[in-house]
Amino acid sequence: MDEPKYDLILRNGNLLLGPQRLIVGDLAVQDGRIAAIVEAGTAPPEALGTAWRELDGRGRLVSPPFVESHLHLDSALTVGQPRWNQSGTLFEGIEIWRDRKAALTPEEVEERAIAALRQLAVRGVLFVRSHVDVTDPDLVALRSLISVRDRVADWMTLQLVAFPQDGLFGHPDHETLMEIALDLGVDAVGGIPHYEMTREDGTRSIRRLFRLAEQRDLLVDMHCDEIDDPNSRFLEVMAAEAIASGLGDRVTASHTCALGSYDNAYATKVMGFVARSGLQIVANPAINLVLQGRGDSYPKRRGLTRVKELWQMGINVALGQDCLQDPWYPLGTGSPLDGAYLAVHGCHMTGAAEIDACYDMVTWHGARVLQLPAYGLMVGGPADFVVLDAESRYEAIRTRALPRYVIARGRLLLETQPAQVQWHQHTSEVEAISRAIELALEAGAVRDDGLDDDELSSNDPRDGGLLRDPLGPPIAAPEPFPAQDDRPPARPERAIARPLSTDGPAPEVPPESSPPNPSPRRPRDRPRNYGSGRFWEP
Ligand code: FE2
Repeated sequence: MDEPKYDLILRNGNLLLGPQRLIVGDLAVQDGRIAAIVEAGTAPPEALGTAWRELDGRGRLVSPPFVESHLHLDSALTVGQPRWNQSGTLFEGIEIWRDRKAALTPEEVEERAIAALRQLAVRGVLFVRSHVDVTDPDLVALRSLISVRDRVADWMTLQLVAFPQDGLFGHPDHETLMEIALDLGVDAVGGIPHYEMTREDGTRSIRRLFRLAEQRDLLVDMHCDEIDDPNSRFLEVMAAEAIASGLGDRVTASHTCALGSYDNAYATKVMGFVARSGLQIVANPAINLVLQGRGDSYPKRRGLTRVKELWQMGINVALGQDCLQDPWYPLGTGSPLDGAYLAVHGCHMTGAAEIDACYDMVTWHGARVLQLPAYGLMVGGPADFVVLDAESRYEAIRTRALPRYVIARGRLLLETQPAQVQWHQHTSEVEAISRAIELALEAGAVRDDGLDDDELSSNDPRDGGLLRDPLGPPIAAPEPFPAQDDRPPARPERAIARPLSTDGPAPEVPPESSPPNPSPRRPRDRPRNYGSGRFWEP
């Protein structure tokens, strides 16, 4: 028997090849790269041959990985240490962090950072830009995160921004510390002009940091105008510097909350300069919804920058999480879809194209901010992708879908089992649905919907039938769901669920590796009405 042709084949996915291109088809991976993409109906189902590992997408959305374009890994997972932020303000958060960072050790920074990155990977993130506070005299966090950047390189791309949290001119040593940090090896120069002591210092800090970026050929990403104050006008300075220096789209302004408080005349003018400069914007919906507007009575400002208007002008806007369980934001799951969901609400982006745009802001737009080469699903490109438990961008945001599979560098990084729902109350409607499914299964008209472990097949002798955790010991393949016989007795509390197995012989189903393909299915990027249940088409 011939050896399989590919390392991995993902069959029958809704392949999101670009913001405007969605097809149903199969995708093959070899040597860490996407080796082939075949649209359904354009070739026989067996055209790709076989692979060591085959996954059935079952119509799920196959998307480039999420890009987390603004995070603070050094403070992640420190909420409540040494105390809770009771006022909820940015400035109390900075005070708490000042105390907490005095207790940083390399070991605990690395441990927390990797735990946070794993949270993000589970949610489908494979690219992260993290700001790192470089006003600590020992630069403990930066040295530790540089180490983490190397440790996770096999499954996560991590960019680091040297961020002077307490102001470049907030202490006589900070400018020197910034230069040392840049020498240690970061990807971008950060700043915080609105937190400098004076307006003049804020402007001076921007100019100084741009010069450092130019000298060292680094990207620029500054916290800019993260305040409700309509007189905080550093975005215009950054735009002017981006034009004058020619750095253009290598420059990112993060937050720009004050843009939401400017009067429309000035906001329109400065957004025009931003468009001209090529400068990119990262908004952070969760954190700015809770940090901003704290000084308002009513009406309270939302605190977000003008995401919708910037996007409508063609300016590249990405969405970040900013904080993950830290002194500024006690919540967070690590999912960029949370930010997209909040942007839909906070920025009034409920139109169909607007919801899709919010998805694009945590994928393609984030990739532009990070200046990632060859991002996306393309033949010859890196085999990094996620298979979401949703079939459209809309549904992914609506449900904040988990990835069923995350593929990094051409290998299966992790798999998530979807949640199950079992009805324990007998109703005529549920009974009718359950009976309809049973009849359909008996007739062989549908297959059950992916809750078995048979979607994942591994012939790969390299992993011995085990799924490997990239940072830990091998973990066993997931247990199959319990057989019907293991369930509690039936009526009157009968478990009415999608039938995961039957009491009798298993229904005949076609092999997963060669699904019937009588006619190509049109991809959907809009929802269907599923009624009371949700099923993936065979
Ligand atoms: Fe931030």
